Amino acid sequence: MMLTFFAQLALAGQPLQLSGSCPPSFELTAQNQCKLVTRYDLYDSLQNKGVGGTQTSLPEARDGFTPQQIDLGRFLFFDPLLSANHQQACASCHQPALGFTDGKALSTGAHGDVGTRSAPSLWNVAYLKQLFWDGRTKTLEQQALIPLFAKHEMANTPEQVLAELMSNSQYPALFRQAFPDKEQLDLTQLATALTAFQSSLISLNSKYDQYAHGYHLALNDEEIKGMNVFRSFVARCSECHTPPLFTNQQIAVIGTPEPEGMPFDPGAGSEAGKEKWRGGFKVPSLRNIALTGPYMHSGRFATLEEAAEFYTKGRGHAVPKGEHLQLHWHIWEPKLSPEEIKQLAVFMNTLTDQSLLPAIPQTLPSGLPLPAELQTTNDNNKGIKP
Ligand code: HEC
Ligand code: HEC
Repeated sequence: MMLTFFAQLALAGQPLQLSGSCPPSFELTAQNQCKLVTRYDLYDSLQNKGVGGTQTSLPEARDGFTPQQIDLGRFLFFDPLLSANHQQACASCHQPALGFTDGKALSTGAHGDVGTRSAPSLWNVAYLKQLFWDGRTKTLEQQALIPLFAKHEMANTPEQVLAELMSNSQYPALFRQAFPDKEQLDLTQLATALTAFQSSLISLNSKYDQYAHGYHLALNDEEIKGMNVFRSFVARCSECHTPPLFTNQQIAVIGTPEPEGMPFDPGAGSEAGKEKWRGGFKVPSLRNIALTGPYMHSGRFATLEEAAEFYTKGRGHAVPKGEHLQLHWHIWEPKLSPEEIKQLAVFMNTLTDQSLLPAIPQTLPSGLPLPAELQTTNDNNKGIKP
C-alpha cells in the first residue's frame, strides 16, 4: 500500500533532486564543497620551467561550490526559461558539442539579432581573471547577468526572470536545495549557480597534458614539431598563449581583421584614457581550440591554419588605414613556412579534451523543451551524468 502511494506521488509531482556528488575531478569536502584536483597540483612554483615549460603550475581556480549549486547551474544553463521569449538558453550560444561556442562567426540573440563578437569557449573559465574579449568583467558572477539582460542576447529583465523562476513548479525547491540558508530566490543565487556550473568545465587531460606529465608517446613526431614551433622564439605563440592554460591572461593588441563590412572593433581600448589598448583583446586560451572555430573575436578565420597564418603575414598587415595601433612587440615577422603553419595547427589539435563534458539535462525544471540547436547536439551527447 505504502509503496504504491509513494510511487504515485513521485509520478504526479516528479520533484527533482539535485545531485549530491561532485563532478569527476572534484573531491567533496566535509563542508559539502567541491574541490578541484588536477595533476597540475603536483607542480609547485619551484618546479616551474619558465614560459612554455611543460611542468608549470596552474593559477588558482574558482571552486568550493556545493554539488547542488553546480547541478542547479547545469539546469539553469540549459533552460530557455532564462530568456525573454523562452527561445534561448546560455547553452544556445555555448553548446557543449562545439566546445561551448555556437560555431558561428558572430552570435545571434533570442530575437535573431546578430551580435558583434564570436562566442568564446567556456572550458576552463574557472581560471580566468578577466572575462569577455575585452576583459571588461572580472568575475563569472558579474558576467552571468550581462547576457541575460542584453537586448541582442537573452533580452530578459530582472523582474521577469525572477517572477518566472519563483512561479515555476520546480525551481523554488531546487534553489532551496542549493542555497539552504536563503529565504528567498534572488539574482545573486542565479549568478552563483551559473558560476558554479561553469567552473566545473575543466579540460586538462588532452594528449598535450599527457605529454606534459611525462608520457612522451602521447604526441607523435609531427605534433612535437608543432609544439616546438609553438614554443620557439621565432613563432612566439607561447609568450602569449602560455601553457598550461595557453593564455597569459593579458590583453594584447595584435591587429586581427574584422569580418568583411564590419566596423573596426576597438576592444579593450573603447574608453577614453585607454587608447594604448585600442584594438586590444584578451589572449584566449587555446584549450579545445579544434572544436571552437571560427576564430578570433570576429570569427574572421575559419580554420586553425588561417588563424596561425595571420601571425606570419606581416606585423599590422590587417590594420585598417588610419588606425594607429600600438601592436604588441611579440607580433612581428616570423616568416613561418607553410609546413610550420600546418604543424602549428596539428599541435593545437592536441589540446582537445572533453572527458569532463557534463550531461545535457533531458528534462528541464521549467518544463520547456530544450532549444532546437541543443536537441540536435543531444544525439551525440557524450555526457557522463544521466
Ligand atoms: C546570444 C548568444 C549568447 C548567449 C545567449 C550567451 N552568451 Fe555568453 N557570450 C556570448 C558572446 C558573443 C560572448 C563574448 C562577448 C564579448 O566579448 O563582448 C560571450 C561571453 C561569455 C563569457 C566570457 C568568456 C570568456 O572567456 O571571456 C561567459 C563566461 C559567458 N559568455 C557565459 C554565458 C552565460 C552564463 C550565459 C547565460 C546566462 C550566456 N553566456 C549566454 C554569447 C552568448
Ligand atoms: C602578442 C600576444 C600573442 C601572440 C604572440 C600570439 N597570439 Fe594568438 N591570440 C592573441 C590574441 C590577443 C588573440 C585574440 C585576437 C582577436 O580576437 O582579435 C589571439 C587569438 C588566437 C587564436 C584564436 C583563438 C580563438 O579562440 O578564436 C589562435 C588559434 C591563436 N591566437 C594562435 C596563435 C598562434 C599559433 C601563435 C603563434 C604563431 C599566436 N597565436 C601568437 C595573442 C597572441
